[in-house]
Amino acid sequence: MNIKDLQKKQAAEAAIEYIKSDMVVGLGTGSTVSYFLDALAKSDRRIVGVTTSKVTSEHCAALKIPIIDIDEVDHIDVTIDGADEVDTYLNGIKGGGAALLMEKIVAKNSKENIWIVDSSKVHDTLGSFPLPVEVIPYGSGQLLRQFTDKGLFPKLRRSQIDNQPVITDAGHYIIDCHMTTINNPYALADYFESQVGVVEHGLFLNICDRVIIGGETIQIQE
Ligand code: 5RP
Repeated sequence: MNIKDLQKKQAAEAAIEYIKSDMVVGLGTGSTVSYFLDALAKSDRRIVGVTTSKVTSEHCAALKIPIIDIDEVDHIDVTIDGADEVDTYLNGIKGGGAALLMEKIVAKNSKENIWIVDSSKVHDTLGSFPLPVEVIPYGSGQLLRQFTDKGLFPKLRRSQIDNQPVITDAGHYIIDCHMTTINNPYALADYFESQVGVVEHGLFLNICDRVIIGGETIQIQE
C-alpha cells in the first residue's frame, strides 16, 4: 500500500472514535470513505447511515451497514467524508468523485462534519485541485463560455471510458475549473451561487468541524 492510501486508511480508522452506537451517520463518497466503511463494518458500532451516492449505498449494502433515506431522519449526528483539498481554515474542495451535491446536502444537515484525508490534500490556499461545479446539462455550453470569460479555465468532465460527459447521480454535468489558486473562495462561491444553471459548487466553506490527516486530528477552534 502506498503512503497516501496508508494515511487514508489511518484517518478512516481514527474516525471510528467519533462514532457511537445508535447515531445517524452521514456517509460520504470516495476511496477514503471506503476505508471508513470497512472499519465501521468491523467495529462494534451499530449505526444507521445516510449515504451521499449510489456507490456508497452499494458499498453499505455489501457490508450490511443499514442505511436510511435523508428525509426519514430528523437529524444526522455526524458525517464522515473525504475531501480533495483542505486549507488551514478547514475550508475545502470536494466533488472529485462527482458526489458534491448530495455530499453538501448531507453535510449541511449534520450536527458535526469530520473529514478524513491524507496529508497531500492539505494546502495553505485552495485551488490546486480543479474546482468541480455541478450544472444542468441544458445551457452548460453557455456556462462554459461564461466561466472562460471569467478566467476560471473550465473543462467539462468526460468519462475516461467513452469520452461522454460524466453524469452525476442527480442527472447533471460537472464542469471542473482549473484555476491553480483561489484567493477569495467566498467571493467565488457567491459568483457560482448567482449563476442560473449552476446546481452546486465544490467549495465547502465553514462546513468542516474537524479534519483527520492520517492519524492526526485538527479541530476548528470555537
Ligand atoms: C467525492 C468527494 C470525495 O470526498 C473526494 O473526491 C475525495 O476522494 P478520495 O477519498 O477518493 O481521495 O468529494 O465527490
